[in-house]
Formats: sequence, structure tokens, C-alpha cells
Amino acid sequence: MNDKPTIASFADFRPDREKFLAEALAGLGATPKTLPSKYFYDDRGSALFDLICELPEYYVTRVETALLGSIADEVATIIGQDAAIIEYGTGSSEKIRILLTALNRPAAFVGVDISGDALLGVTDAMARHFPDMAVHGVCADFTQPLKLPTLAGSGKRVVFFPGSSLGNFDHQQAEDFLANAAKTVGPDGALLIGIDLKKDVDTLNAAYDDAQGITAQFNLNLLTRLNRECGADFDLEDFRHRAFYNAKAGRVEMHLVSLRAQTVSLGGANIAFTKGETIHTENSYKYSTSEFQDLSRRAGLMPLHVWTDADQLFSLHYLHVGSQYYMP
Ligand SMILES: C[S@@+](CC[C@H](N)C(=O)[O-])C[C@H]1O[C@@H](n2cnc3c(N)ncnc32)[C@H](O)[C@@H]1O
Repeated sequence: MNDKPTIASFADFRPDREKFLAEALAGLGATPKTLPSKYFYDDRGSALFDLICELPEYYVTRVETALLGSIADEVATIIGQDAAIIEYGTGSSEKIRILLTALNRPAAFVGVDISGDALLGVTDAMARHFPDMAVHGVCADFTQPLKLPTLAGSGKRVVFFPGSSLGNFDHQQAEDFLANAAKTVGPDGALLIGIDLKKDVDTLNAAYDDAQGITAQFNLNLLTRLNRECGADFDLEDFRHRAFYNAKAGRVEMHLVSLRAQTVSLGGANIAFTKGETIHTENSYKYSTSEFQDLSRRAGLMPLHVWTDADQLFSLHYLHVGSQYYMP
């Protein structure tokens, strides 16, 4: 008999090929051209992101992980026992394990991620590591309405959204996302959100354009996926990664630059590029502490705690959900 702890549930709502193709055609048909950053993450994209987390230039993961480790006991006291944690963008699960280990008898965990095979592996490993907690996986696009499993536990519901992934949304989308997350956890719930802080341009530019070219491979993986999954004929030698901090907009932008005038075929459409034209593939908005707290208040949340590292590179915000989010 196999009595090893197993995942309580795993739901697979990952976007299919038709959805990927439709979103890619819409983005590449627009001016300026765009592609959604969520499609970075197939097996290879997730593995490349794990390599990015190890890069000397990518301070984000290192600093947030250390900060979380230093405050985990305090956060655990605030959250209390028997809690259910919902994490958006679980990735390799390194950070959530720190939080779950500090918590007093967490009842349930739901990992939500678009990268299905990676999520299955991670939730399976977590079910074994935390045998007294119900572990659920939901492979889905978290920018769309989600159906989450029923969660065990009589304690707080808490959304954990690390990695400054909220920075991939523009300000209005971020506000809407926070308000939806608040509805998900309900009154007396909370959100614990990792947010990258504004800082000097050189540090930001290097973090998204590393010397080893791993971020470039990660960005170009979008075109590899379009070739493999949607039958496109992008020549990867004809596109180059570009990343820079746009100070006016307060965000790092990632683009793929067409190195020559060319036409690419995708799903029966011919997509023309001029030399130097770009596909805008990702934004990473940066916030000051007060800017992010103001945005949280606009979403109807109460910023109760904020922690930053000594060098003021990264912040973790604990946002309380009030009774206005009661859903009858
Ligand atoms: C920047 S990584 C962060 C990973 C990890 N949470 C961390 O902090 O290091 C973003 C994660 O979110 C997932 N992701 C990105 N966009 C998504 C979307 N629209 N829906 C669901 N998951 C998404 C990716 O697969 C990836 O695991």
C-alpha cells in the first residue's frame, strides 16, 4: 500500500494552444507590438527563471528570500494558527516553504501557477514535506477569474504574492488584482505582497540584462514557444533582447528587437517588422513604499506592516482585508 502523503487536489486550467495563438496574434497585430509575459513560463521558461534567481545581478530573489526569513516568525504570529495560504506564481516554492515552516499548524496551501508541470512537481514535493497540511495545485492564468478549491482550516485566509510579480501589471491592473485577491480571502484575511523598490538605474538595468545572457534566453523563449507550439517561423538570430528602466513610467521594460526588416508567419498571418522595431514582452513596475501603500488603499486594503532590507532594495507588505470585502 502506498501511504505517502499526496496532493489534496490538482486542477489544470492552463491556456491551450488556441488561446496562446489568439493572444499572440492580437499582441503582434497591435501598435506597438506586444506579447503577454505569462507565456515565458513553460518547462524551459521556468527552468531559465530559476537560473535568473541565481544570477549575481538579480538581487530580487536573494534579497526577498533573506528578508522573508528574517521576518517569518513575526508574520507567523500576526497570521496565527490554522491558516490557509494561497500563493500566486508559486515557481520553485522556495519562499513559500519559509513562510509555511514558520506558521503554526497551517491547514491548507494552494499554489497557483501557469507552468503546469513545474507546479505539479512542486506541489507533490510540498505534500510530502508538509504531511499535516492539505496541498492543492491550480494550474491557471491568475489574471483571469479563478475557481479555487474549498480550503481546510478555521484560521485566516492569506494570499502570498512574492517576487514582485505584481509589478508585471500596470497600476490599474495591480489595483484590480489586489481587490480580487481581497475578495478571495474575505474579511479578516490578508495579503503578503513582495514589491521591488525604486532604486538606481544601473542596478535595475543589470538585473534584467545579465552578463551571461540568461535573461536574454528567457525573453527569446517566447519566440521558441511560438515556433514550436503555434507553427511560427521566427528566426531567433534575427531578434535581440533589450531591457531598460523607463524612469518616466517607473518600470523596467523588456523587449525583443528585430535586427532587420523581416516578415514572420504565424497562424496564417504575415507579421511585418521594420529594422529596430520591438515586441514589448514585459513590464516590471517599481514602487516606493508610500506609492505602493497608496495603491493598496485605493484597492480598499489596510497596509498594516511593511518590512524592507537594510539597503532598501525590496519590500514585503502585509495588507489587512476589512469587512467591506464580506461576500454574502
Ligand atoms: C517572476 S516568477 C516568480 C516565482 C516565485 N514566486 C518567486 O518569487 O521567485 C513568476 C511566476 O508566476 C508564474 N506566472 C506568471 N504569470 C502568470 C499568470 N498570468 N498566471 C499564473 N502564473 C503566472 C510563472 O510561471 C512563475 O512561476
